Amino acid sequence: MPSPRDPFLLPGDKPPVGEKLQKFISGAGVTSRRHAEVMIKQGRVTVNGKLATLGMRVVPGDTVRVGGVEVGPQAPRFFMLNKPTGIVTTLDDPQGRATVATLVPDDVRVYPVGRLDIDTSGLLLLTNDGELAHRLMHPSFGVTKTYRVLVQGGVSAATARQLAEGVELEDGMTAPAEAKVVDAGAKHSVLELTIHEGRNRQVRRMCEAIGHPVIELARTAYGPLVLAGLAPGASRPLTDQEIRRLRKAAGLAPARTKEPGSRAERRAEKFGPPRTEGEAVPGDKPAKPAKPKPVKSAKPAASTKPKTWKPKPATSEDEAVQRDRDAGAGGSRNANEQHKPKQRTAKPPRGSGPGSGSRGKSGGGNTRGSGRRGG
Ligand code: URA
Repeated sequence: MPSPRDPFLLPGDKPPVGEKLQKFISGAGVTSRRHAEVMIKQGRVTVNGKLATLGMRVVPGDTVRVGGVEVGPQAPRFFMLNKPTGIVTTLDDPQGRATVATLVPDDVRVYPVGRLDIDTSGLLLLTNDGELAHRLMHPSFGVTKTYRVLVQGGVSAATARQLAEGVELEDGMTAPAEAKVVDAGAKHSVLELTIHEGRNRQVRRMCEAIGHPVIELARTAYGPLVLAGLAPGASRPLTDQEIRRLRKAAGLAPARTKEPGSRAERRAEKFGPPRTEGEAVPGDKPAKPAKPKPVKSAKPAASTKPKTWKPKPATSEDEAVQRDRDAGAGGSRNANEQHKPKQRTAKPPRGSGPGSGSRGKSGGGNTRGSGRRGG
């Protein structure tokens, strides 16, 4: 009988042996499966010393190298960091500035999910799960990010509506968002903005576009996860429940547990062999990528420009983050759930978010150029 999961197998054909190479690389925390395919095509991957080709499968005992560095299966790890300002969202900064790598345990190599500007504080996720990271970052999966924004000037409800409906930026119209005026004074206002894109410096550019430059910016939520109870500079592992909620938000089925006698094992006994990552398990609702939701209260904008927005197929954030991942391919260390920030070399952070300390200038920026995808 051909496997129901491979419609191209003919009766008598043996099912393929081993794991797809791109899945193995993604499981090693190096990158997403899609980008792993690109790396294979680029000739950056070897299996047992020979150049790998697309379609290859690997079995236990094979030696896989990406960019010359041996990679292997890793237990997925997830951390939430309250990134202070003054820290760069990269693992290695050529200019020698303090990086987020100093704020998470160094016995496990995890990569930032997206990017927060050097002057932005707040919730940053770090993981070695390349597939989930890719889904969290890519706008087509619609995972939201919420920001508290201190801006110059008094923002009216009508102006906030402009943010919600979309504003024209140099790299195109922004997608529908949620925008709330939390507090409006004559000189400053506090906004709460929820977006599901991640263009470079997007929130700063959106606020600038409506005439209210950002003074301070902090991310307070990523998908279903909120930043609560973490001091600036502190990090902690995500709980199992948070990981489940994050996977669901990214359109992935719950991760299987390999503990003996687990629910997953009992299901496997009842329903057959385990599914691959992302496949639904019997009894689960089918996992779908969330679609960007239009804002209910959106009214037609005053502008006569056509407003269209489509998720872009390839994100330069993916590419930028990828550089970090590529640089660190293969780092596999043991977990340590406790972490205290290490001594940093850069100046201390200014604060943890809007209203929490000195008010710096807007637009400090990270090392990446404008127009790239950010957090
Ligand atoms: N938008 C920005 O402008 N900066 C960030 O750091 C994140 C989102």
